[in-house]
Amino acid sequence: MGLLLSIFIGFLASLIGGLYLLGVFRRRQPGEPPLDKGLIPWLGHVLEFRRNTLKFIERMKQKHGDVFTVQLGGSYITFLQDPLSFGPLVKESKEKLDFVEYAGDLVHRLFGYKGEEDDHHNLVVYSNKHLKGDGLKVLTQAMMTNLQNLMLHRIDGAADNSTWTEDELFMYSYNIMFRAGYLSLFGNTTPESEGSEERSKEKDRAESEALFSEFLKYDKFVPNMAYRALTPSQTLEVKRLLEVFWNALSMQKMRLKDNISRWIWDMWQIRNERGMKESMTDRLMFVLLFASQGNTGPASFWLLFFLMKHPEAMAAVKEEVDRVVKESGQEVRRGGPLVDLTHEMLMKTPILDSALEESLRLTSGNLLNRAVLQDMTLKLADGREYFVRKGDMVVMFPYSAVQLHPEIHPDPCSFKYDRFLNPDGSKKTDFYMQGKKVKYYNMPWGAGSSMCPGRFFAANEMKQLIFLMLLYFEFELKNESTEVNFKRWGFGVLQPDRDVPFRYRLRD
Ligand code: HEM
Repeated sequence: MGLLLSIFIGFLASLIGGLYLLGVFRRRQPGEPPLDKGLIPWLGHVLEFRRNTLKFIERMKQKHGDVFTVQLGGSYITFLQDPLSFGPLVKESKEKLDFVEYAGDLVHRLFGYKGEEDDHHNLVVYSNKHLKGDGLKVLTQAMMTNLQNLMLHRIDGAADNSTWTEDELFMYSYNIMFRAGYLSLFGNTTPESEGSEERSKEKDRAESEALFSEFLKYDKFVPNMAYRALTPSQTLEVKRLLEVFWNALSMQKMRLKDNISRWIWDMWQIRNERGMKESMTDRLMFVLLFASQGNTGPASFWLLFFLMKHPEAMAAVKEEVDRVVKESGQEVRRGGPLVDLTHEMLMKTPILDSALEESLRLTSGNLLNRAVLQDMTLKLADGREYFVRKGDMVVMFPYSAVQLHPEIHPDPCSFKYDRFLNPDGSKKTDFYMQGKKVKYYNMPWGAGSSMCPGRFFAANEMKQLIFLMLLYFEFELKNESTEVNFKRWGFGVLQPDRDVPFRYRLRD
């Protein structure tokens, strides 16, 4: 009898423990946001969330208002969708709302990299040093050289410039931006190793092309990896791809290169000095490759796509590009030197800046995540207060909360290249909601402690692509429609669900 009783009590305890872990007992406490656990224990709403994050968040907002907590795969996530309250959240102390711990776990899961305690601090220090100011000028120059190598290497040898090349715009943009960005950050093959400068350029082209093709494969798996939803065969393929990148970006190989950017070099060196194993720093290199290349190509695609779809926008940008080149004393001449686009020239383009910001407004779909490190109160701009629990997450989804908010951005789904321009041609930063100024009116680069440190370089890269396209090529869409791929909500800049055919040729 005693034995049976012990077994029964043990069973009951495990059952209650299991149900507890499944979140069955969690109830909304006074002062907490509305709680929606969904019908499936533990999983909660995760399937609907993954199917279409935007639709799910909009449905929950309609049901519960702009602050609500949902259960997603065992985690409790509080969504805050009031744009006027983003400021207090972004500025909340790291002791309460933390990005670093959350990001560290994700990076470990996606890239196999286990960081050190001051990893984030080092990232901030070296990004400030090398992705801004003089460091940015050097990188922009490197990008120019590499873009010229990839886009214009045939310019002299082209027998017949009038032949159109048919291509697909997403692949075309992603390919060029990935390869030029990769070479600018991770360095070039040396002429000494190849016997001549021409051959080293050729090797750069071939090697970066091969790496891009593997990168695309990895990139496709990312959403499923983040949700721990890979099939066994996909898991094997991801392992193979990781090995490819760790090997291709290993310091052993990089030491043989020229022009490695200071950003990459210092990020490696500081860890090397502290005794981190090279097998681990090789993994960090892939984290940096992914962070720097995963968004820039897709964002360049959308910018080109919108400009091509909107002739008035393209004409305004073209006029600006021609003016800036002329003012620099350069011109595009058959057989003459290639135009050298400097950082200073790229700082004189308010129209292109506005078009770029507008394109990002319509296509960047990040979730900004913060882990709740201690029980705390979220204070909203209108005086409301909500209690959130330690161990939960607080998340903002700026795409629907801000970027497509019809009061902040009237006619929000339309591309208006001058949306971020004042009538006098200067940058517009005044946007309002309910009569109040909205500080975070567009958030493609994130905000606060996790704001993208590469944003200045990324903007320069994209502008360089537009300059070169407009100066050297004629190009036109063959089909003007595409949709976004819903699976990538929450993972940075969106991608199209099908590519867009276009054609291009060198200008006469
Ligand atoms: C259009 C291009 C780009 C977009 C839209 C973009 C956007 C973002 C966003 C939204 C985040 C924050 C993610 C979060 O809060 O979870 C981020 C982080 C980051 N980005 Fe970018 N990015 C771009 C290009 C770049 C480039 C070119 C670099 C490097 C040269 C870069 C380096 C990074 C790094 C290292 C982080 C992590 C920051 C941290 O942990 O605090 N990004 N990016």
